[in-house]
Amino acid sequence: MYNSRISGLGFYVPENVVTNDDLSQVMDTNDEWIQERTGIQERRHVIKGTDTTTSMGVKAAKVAIERAGIDKDEIDFIVFATLSPDYYFPGPGVLVQRDLGIKTVGALDVRNQCSGFIYGVSVADQYIKSGMYKNILVIGSELHSHGLDMTTRGRGVSVIFGDGAGAAVLTREEDASKGILSSHLHSEGQHAEELSLIAPGMGKRWVTDIIEEQDPEDTSYFPYMNGQFVFKNAVVRFSEVIIEGLKVNGLSAEDIDMLIPHQANLRISQFVQKKFGLSNDQVYNNIMNYGNTTAASIPIALTEAWEAGKVNEGDLVVLAAFGSGFTWGSVIIKW
Ligand code: ACO
Repeated sequence: MYNSRISGLGFYVPENVVTNDDLSQVMDTNDEWIQERTGIQERRHVIKGTDTTTSMGVKAAKVAIERAGIDKDEIDFIVFATLSPDYYFPGPGVLVQRDLGIKTVGALDVRNQCSGFIYGVSVADQYIKSGMYKNILVIGSELHSHGLDMTTRGRGVSVIFGDGAGAAVLTREEDASKGILSSHLHSEGQHAEELSLIAPGMGKRWVTDIIEEQDPEDTSYFPYMNGQFVFKNAVVRFSEVIIEGLKVNGLSAEDIDMLIPHQANLRISQFVQKKFGLSNDQVYNNIMNYGNTTAASIPIALTEAWEAGKVNEGDLVVLAAFGSGFTWGSVIIKW
């Protein structure tokens, strides 16, 4: 049995910066409300006709592959996590295979929203551990801005989300004490609709229903979030799944060198930081600059932390996420 390690990281965000004041021009909101509740100061929005979820993922992936020091043809498998794919089908994994010109390797699409990157890394880790693959490209990318209700009606959700992509190459590691030590995945579908986008879908409303009804009050094709309920569940599950990961490896919170939480809300990250008694240097946050980029948030934050020299060989790095599904998970890494 092998281990896997992260051998390359990259991220890409679109150039277009949207501040809280910019949002207050199109909806009834303000900088103070947004910063106080979420910590967000600005986010990036793709200008229509430029990037897509796939193209951002490809840009991030190119950097990650180069930093891994491998050729694209050494990639054995692709995992792509997103809730905002270019097409309803096929998923973006195959589009990355095409656009990067990678040979006909398998491409898997992960639909676990904010936990998507954690799920993707966990899947990739198992393939590498089993010896089946040597190098796996894992991408998290989201283009939220085109699908949000950018009016006062949608302000509780729209101000939170931003666009961007992050990518990691996972590579076989022969030293069993290094790399990904364990991953932990959970779900609780009874709360599926508390953070969801239900249309178009075959369950409740398909495109033809929306077109036929032409109801101006219809919000089924915009994301819905029961914010306070999500918040309460997030703080509990984040903590649980971090403790689970540490315990399995015989570790405790004092052993954490760097916690990269999914950038859901700065208040959630601060709650978790306080609970585990971690210093500001032990938790990486960048939601201030990018908002919540869902499946992309952990790989963007991890890349930035690594680029800033905050993740070094021998460090214990913990990744943790919670989001729609509900799904949550953690990955424990000896860097
Ligand atoms: N600007 C100004 N006012 C607003 C805005 C806005 N953008 N959005 C909502 N309001 C108003 C509401 O209409 C409401 O007004 P009312 O009291 O007159 O009815 C008031 O502000 C309070 O609204 P709440 O929704 O109760 O605000 P809350 O304090 O719960 O904050 C928030 C909302 C920030 C979403 C919070 O619930 C939260 O952080 N939830 C966690 C969910 C989260 O982080 N989700 C991220 C995505 S999911 C994930 O990644 C885990």
